[in-house]
Amino acid sequence: PHPIIFDTDPGVDDAQAIAIALRHPDIELLGMTTTYGNVDVETATHNALLLAELAGRGDVPVAQGAAAPMVKPRHPAPAHIHGANGLGNIELPAVRGRPDPRSAAQFIVDTVNARPGEVTLVAVGPVGNLAAALQLDPAIVDRVRQVVIMGGSIREGGNVTPVAEANMFNDPDAAARVLTAGWPLTLVGLDVTHRCVLTPAHMARIEAGQGALGRVLAGSYAFYRDFYYEFLGIDGCCPHDSCALAWLLRPELFITSRGHLTVATSGDAEGQTIFAPEGRAFIEARWSRTPLVDVCLGVDGQAVSDWIADTL
Ligand code: BDR
Ligand code: CA
Repeated sequence: PHPIIFDTDPGVDDAQAIAIALRHPDIELLGMTTTYGNVDVETATHNALLLAELAGRGDVPVAQGAAAPMVKPRHPAPAHIHGANGLGNIELPAVRGRPDPRSAAQFIVDTVNARPGEVTLVAVGPVGNLAAALQLDPAIVDRVRQVVIMGGSIREGGNVTPVAEANMFNDPDAAARVLTAGWPLTLVGLDVTHRCVLTPAHMARIEAGQGALGRVLAGSYAFYRDFYYEFLGIDGCCPHDSCALAWLLRPELFITSRGHLTVATSGDAEGQTIFAPEGRAFIEARWSRTPLVDVCLGVDGQAVSDWIADTL
């Protein structure tokens, strides 16, 4: 199995991905780290603990991280998308466990250093915790196995501004550091997540298969669905964050391209990811200073959506 740390801001689609991370036999979930984003960081931590407990995995450590972006002021979380409680405003059972005493960044550094070359960081919220971990111990760049980030958009346009995807927009300064750090990195952005639709039929199967956790996934999905109908005109939800795990476990379902990646940190383009494919002379002349990464540009959306439902 892949040993992973799952960095998250749950979040309706985060919750689906967390369920996969908790349940999939090919994933060894070493811990979750939380960030503000879809909700404030305390709510994110609460939800991560709750989802683990509902899956019977209260043993999984949850370490709390970034409460705000690194540089820019914090925007209030958009309650109309994920609900004020992050899980579609459904009633939630009480949480019994406590977060790990370490910060998210310290947890990442300790865990990566304990198993050099083995740990994959999967980040599906604003990436402040990864930036903080890099600051704490720059040597982790060479010690992680790989970094998979749900965020950004190369050709698809944005979902917060015309050009910016939410996770990038919510902390562009952290994203700039994380995307150009020089570690093996794959970006799973809106170019592929908008091609995947978790339908009501998928969710009915998930609800039936996941007991108490299934009730939370289905209840929060019902709320999130309204947003997708208004925003994209589809009946169903884009399972953004699960796509990062799909890429990790089923890379053959994706088409990736290698090149240089940056993100704009201010102005009208704030949070926009800018991708320059490698190997073209005019690009290398200007962009070779940024390390090469992989970005997902194509996907078999039906297969990924079915994989999520089959997994759960
Ligand atoms: C990303 O933003 C959040 O709202 C979702 O959880 C996902 O991580 C999609 O742009
Ligand atoms: Ca998320």
